[in-house]
Amino acid sequence: MNILLTGGTGYIGSHTAAILLELGHQVILLDNLSNSNSNVLAKLKTITGYQIPFVHSDVRDTQTLQDVLKSHDIKAVIHFAGLKAVGESTEQPITYYSNNIQGTISLLQAMQATSIKTLVFSSSATVYGEPHYLPLDEKHPTHATNPYGRSKLHIEEILSDVAQSDPEWRIISLRYFNPVGAHPSGLIGENPQGIPNNLMPYIAQVASRQRSQLNVFGNDYPTPDGTGIRDYIHIMDLASGHAAALDYLKMQSGYIAINLGTGQGYSVLEMVKAYEHACGHEIPYSIAPRRSGDIAICYANPALAYDLLNWQASYTLDAMCASTWKFQQMLHQNNTI
Ligand code: NAD
Ligand code: UD1
Repeated sequence: MNILLTGGTGYIGSHTAAILLELGHQVILLDNLSNSNSNVLAKLKTITGYQIPFVHSDVRDTQTLQDVLKSHDIKAVIHFAGLKAVGESTEQPITYYSNNIQGTISLLQAMQATSIKTLVFSSSATVYGEPHYLPLDEKHPTHATNPYGRSKLHIEEILSDVAQSDPEWRIISLRYFNPVGAHPSGLIGENPQGIPNNLMPYIAQVASRQRSQLNVFGNDYPTPDGTGIRDYIHIMDLASGHAAALDYLKMQSGYIAINLGTGQGYSVLEMVKAYEHACGHEIPYSIAPRRSGDIAICYANPALAYDLLNWQASYTLDAMCASTWKFQQMLHQNNTI
């Protein structure tokens, strides 16, 4: 099947492209390169043997999307394109709503105009807000606490409305928990510009001595070691969840939101320990104040993904850390930091 991946040169898009190609699909990547680099295409060629077609464009350019959907005979779209930094979204809400919401509307218009009505959307566990109970299942009430989260929530509502308006639409929102890790080749992975916002890339940079120490945001949470607990999911598991979602949509129309997580939570200090095991040396850290807006514990109930998509996470925490470390070392060797 020919599949368009918006935001396809980004972290999750590039790994999903690798998996879809392995499964025999054809993929076309579209990205405005605002948070990724086109050199990922050469790396994907080394990994898969394919020169993947790439369109350098913004998803808000509806006409280009329409042309791409038609000319590549696209059957389904996975919509990764969007901005994702929570802090930045509170400073630049208009930019976030424009990229994320306007971008999605533009995509829906192009899909409607070309009668391509199968869509997988990158949503986030952030739509649950502060957990009322754990593990988080899809029936948990939703609540956004920042413009990034609100953009995901609004998009989910728009997608639900669109699916209700016309029975031909087949749409899944995948609510990702915390994607980490890298492709087993070490060629592609997460390499944020500037100071990483998220735990794993920050630990990776401390491990490779680009940063002197990790700041652990709070050790007074109601958790066994006092640090925050999250559901970290290996990027290759997350990527294969998209292939499973597309298979499901072959049989099912309408709209549904599904968690992609492991169901297992790890604390910040457990993550530090696991990474030390992977890299073979100590990760210096000190305890810092809590990060504003953080919650204590968040992990998924992944049962719906298992029941409907026949998908479950299989990679271990050790594999998550080992692949991140391999990717980090290869970045160093190639001097691409
Ligand atoms: P990423 O930044 O690596 O990838 C997103 C890609 O979209 C980038 O390559 C960027 O250049 C592109 N892009 C952004 N705005 C665009 C636009 N208007 N037009 C075209 N391209 C555009 O991020 P990622 O981690 O791969 O995330 C992919 C999606 O998954 C995002 O929608 C994100 O919100 C969502 N998500 C990510 C996480 C996570 O922790 N990584 C968690 C939950 C949800
Ligand atoms: C982030 C996003 C959230 C998104 C989720 C899943 C932010 C603020 N929130 O949250 O919207 O849905 O990822 O991808 O980016 N930590 C440290 N030191 C650090 C960085 C993090 O101690 O330098 C701690 C945090 O306090 C938290 C844990 O590590 O307890 C994980 O943090 P992070 O990787 O940012 O993920 P989330 O908080 O889940």
